[in-house]
Amino acid sequence: MENEKLKRSFIQKIANFCKRKGFVFPCCEIYGGFSGFYDFGPLGVELKKNIKDEWWNTFVRQRDDVVGIDGCTVTHSMIWKASGHVESFTDPLVECKKCHKRFRGDHLIEDAIGLSVDGITIEQINEIIKKHNLKCPNCKGELTSAKAFNLMFKTFVGAVEDDAHIAYLRPETAQLIFTDFRLVMEVSRLRPPFGIAQIGRVYRNEISPRDFLFRLREFEQMEIEYFVHPDRVNECPYLTEELLNFEMNVYSAEMQQKGEKVKKMSLREILEKNIIKTKWHGYWLALMYKWFMDLGVNPEKLRIRQHLPEERSHYALDTWDIEYRFPFGWKEIHGMANRTTFDLTQHMKFSGKDLRYFDEKTKEKIIPYVVAEPSQGVERAFLTFIIDAYTEEEDRIVLKLHPKLAPYKVAVFPLVSKDGLDEKAKEIHNTLKKKFACFYDDKGSIGRRYARQDEIGTPFCITVDYQTMEDNTVTIRDRNTKEQVRIKITNLESIIRKLIEGEIKFSELKKQNSI
Ligand code: ATP
Ligand code: GLY
Repeated sequence: MENEKLKRSFIQKIANFCKRKGFVFPCCEIYGGFSGFYDFGPLGVELKKNIKDEWWNTFVRQRDDVVGIDGCTVTHSMIWKASGHVESFTDPLVECKKCHKRFRGDHLIEDAIGLSVDGITIEQINEIIKKHNLKCPNCKGELTSAKAFNLMFKTFVGAVEDDAHIAYLRPETAQLIFTDFRLVMEVSRLRPPFGIAQIGRVYRNEISPRDFLFRLREFEQMEIEYFVHPDRVNECPYLTEELLNFEMNVYSAEMQQKGEKVKKMSLREILEKNIIKTKWHGYWLALMYKWFMDLGVNPEKLRIRQHLPEERSHYALDTWDIEYRFPFGWKEIHGMANRTTFDLTQHMKFSGKDLRYFDEKTKEKIIPYVVAEPSQGVERAFLTFIIDAYTEEEDRIVLKLHPKLAPYKVAVFPLVSKDGLDEKAKEIHNTLKKKFACFYDDKGSIGRRYARQDEIGTPFCITVDYQTMEDNTVTIRDRNTKEQVRIKITNLESIIRKLIEGEIKFSELKKQNSI
């Protein structure tokens, strides 16, 4: 309970910060908000776009074996019958018999007795509720037995509202990849191993949305379905020495069952010990883990955790999550299942269409095998990056976002708004804003202006002062260290670009003679 209180107050602090600074607003706040829905403000939309761009550039544009699609969000009901979601995409629902408030059974248990019960069955929930005599957290009323509640939003398409016109708002982007699979394979002339990626909105009618951006009813997913030949799940040509030596914090199902601690292991050790069953799955987990690290997330706060058998979704043979250690505990930020041939087989059955490919090696028609499905919510990544970057120092709040993610890369200030300094600063701003998201500020003291940029994560601030008017140099200030260096205006663009890309460090700038 104490932990629960701490978590709530921390989450509230971050939500207030995000609202105050223009990152995230409660959806339709003027009408009292809308539970599970959030809007993104001027800075939030930039950060979100940067996250998506980084993901897309890394996993689609920079690869020859992954292509993208953008599917519809209102979808044919047959998709979800075939995929098993109509039957199985459920959470356990319990209701208070007195105040009629509804709760997610596993969460109610976790909150009441602090027990982590991921993947628990309806029967087990009912047993625990009975054994611990759990009551409604709202009014202490008696609770109903748990029942399965389907999380998909239903709607009708067309002018007739009957069962034949039911459509679902997609709860995952993945299924559109499967239904478009044949067309993508034909037009892109790719054959397994290859992947199809998608970023887009999904909808889940969560029973109790909570924890700000962590559990929403409308959010975006970034997903890849990676298809291989079913007999070649270990033939991964991209396992470089560097990647094999890459270390992750590992928490396998066996380690959890034996009560062992998380262990740091290299990908090589993980694969050699058969902890992750296929090389392709290990490869994709390492890449996604590394993606978070490369964008500045503290590696000590990341781990991969294997699902216990009872936790796995109906389609999964093996699932590993990437989890982040939030101030309120380890939580999933990324899921990665091995979906086998389950989905394409189901869609072949339900649509009557052949979704196999012709394998040149064996001269056989093969159903592609999804060896790994990297799947993550953009908003959970957003929350992770914000929380990881949020730092309270003695004299300031500073958001230490990776420069690639920061909403503004650079801010330009005139020391004072007179004697031509403001014109010079505007000139610099006008040039730089064509290249980078760039902010101009001439209001308030210079210290106050730096502080405002620190709080929203702007990594570099440029100040035009009287010396600028004499020698065409400006100061550039580093957000994290507050250090300043003088550089020539003509070098600004290239230096800022190198700093953002990580090609030079700010501390190295000082050592250079003439910049
Ligand atoms: P949880 O166990 O927390 O409900 P999940 O196992 O249902 O999550 P997945 O179905 O694996 O989540 O979804 C893949 C990814 O989509 C998650 O790792 C997460 O980043 C994101 N996601 C899932 N549900 C939500 C949600 N309600 N709000 C925000 N992001 C979500
Ligand atoms: N596509 C996997 C998921 O949304 O859970």
